[in-house]
Amino acid sequence: MRRPIIAGNWKMNNTIAATKALLTDLIPLVKDAEAEVVVCVPYTDIATAGEMIKGTNIKLGAENVHWAEKGAFTGEISADMLKELDVEYVIIGHSERRQYFGETDETVNMRVKAALAKGLKPIICVGETLEEREGGIVEKVLVRQVEGAFKDIDKSELENIVIAYEPVWAIGTGKTATAQDANDTIAIIRNTMAKLYCEKCAEEKVRIQYGGSMNPKNASELMAMEQIDGGLIGGASLKAVDFSQVVKYNK
Ligand code: PGA
Repeated sequence: MRRPIIAGNWKMNNTIAATKALLTDLIPLVKDAEAEVVVCVPYTDIATAGEMIKGTNIKLGAENVHWAEKGAFTGEISADMLKELDVEYVIIGHSERRQYFGETDETVNMRVKAALAKGLKPIICVGETLEEREGGIVEKVLVRQVEGAFKDIDKSELENIVIAYEPVWAIGTGKTATAQDANDTIAIIRNTMAKLYCEKCAEEKVRIQYGGSMNPKNASELMAMEQIDGGLIGGASLKAVDFSQVVKYNK
């Protein structure tokens, strides 16, 4: 019902030369993957990556998109610009954007709307900080982030959106949420979506990834959980063999 989706988030890594090297190795390694495979790459790598993965099972993603169609927004990228390069997915609201670049639930929502309006598929990131987890407000934070991101988004768009649950304390730290914790927290997100839309939509249409130090060692345990529909992979997506092993978590 919910096809697993494993997406790499390269963040600010890989020059064009490095992109060529990584994808040359990755393409044959993942060619028979059962999961949907995506690489979300820096803007400067999009054209190269797009050319290289044409005709393969790897899909192209970007790491952000602006909400305006065009105009005086120095340093930003529009949905049209990404569409022209055949980008299919776009990460929105990553915790690094929220933490370092002033992203809020409101701007996440604006970006999601702009992406959908142009036929891009958002990967919307949500997740609590360590402080919030220790303060016992995980549910409150996630409900606020999810309600904010999905404000005025129509039910018909749900199959074009992926949610990534990324506990901030697990990103790039080597600390993974236990599979059970990740599963239980993702259940809170799915439940929130059920309340916002409907039980059936949340159950059948909403794919929710786990992200945060996911790697070849923990991927199969995480992916075996009922609620987890995929992964958003940072560090381990920078090495072809590691990423391919996450993609083929069940092999
Ligand atoms: P990580 O990053 O796998 O390096 O923890 C995940 C992410 O930030 O998307």
